[in-house]
Amino acid sequence: MISSKAISSDQERQLWTATLKYLERGRPGDVEHTRRVVAYGKTLLAKEPGNPRVVVPALIIHDTGWSKVDFSDFVDAPAVDKKDTASVKLHMPHGADIAREILEAVGWDPTTTQQIADIIAVHDAPEKIRALHNLDAALVFEADWLDKYGQASQKRYFEIFSDEGKIEELNRYLEKNKFVFFRSKAAKGLLSEITSKGNP
Ligand SMILES: [Fe+2]
Ligand SMILES: [Fe+2]
Repeated sequence: MISSKAISSDQERQLWTATLKYLERGRPGDVEHTRRVVAYGKTLLAKEPGNPRVVVPALIIHDTGWSKVDFSDFVDAPAVDKKDTASVKLHMPHGADIAREILEAVGWDPTTTQQIADIIAVHDAPEKIRALHNLDAALVFEADWLDKYGQASQKRYFEIFSDEGKIEELNRYLEKNKFVFFRSKAAKGLLSEITSKGNP
């Protein structure tokens, strides 16, 4: 049964059309990353009582802010310091602004639009996401961060960093912190699925 909160495929297509031009100007692989995290978000929504009208648009639009920043500091920073780079911090408010523009243009409900912009404004800051005490924010964060694991992420890191040492360091950091990042039962289940998929 389709809940009244569901998002139609037409609405989703409209959001993708408005968003792609930003994602294509972002980091290498951002379009594919976004497609994977939207799929992860839908898997989480099938098991957790989140609002698809918040979670799905937030995930489609969340990384558009990379189109507005010079991300060379992000590429160069050591893995554990990436979250503190200026470009990571800046892509969040830029993304929130773009979300407001896109959602207003497609006629999204203003209250839901504000919730989405608030989530995008902090989506890469685990402590700030947790401070929102909001399931939709947590699901957006989990879906996005799940894509730091598994085979697709390794290919993506190589496209962005092209440095084996940096990738190993990042993987160690991610492995060490996975139980800090993923709290919902659905995300923990999806993480073990992603990481156990056959190795090349
Ligand atoms: Fe991001
Ligand atoms: Fe992302």
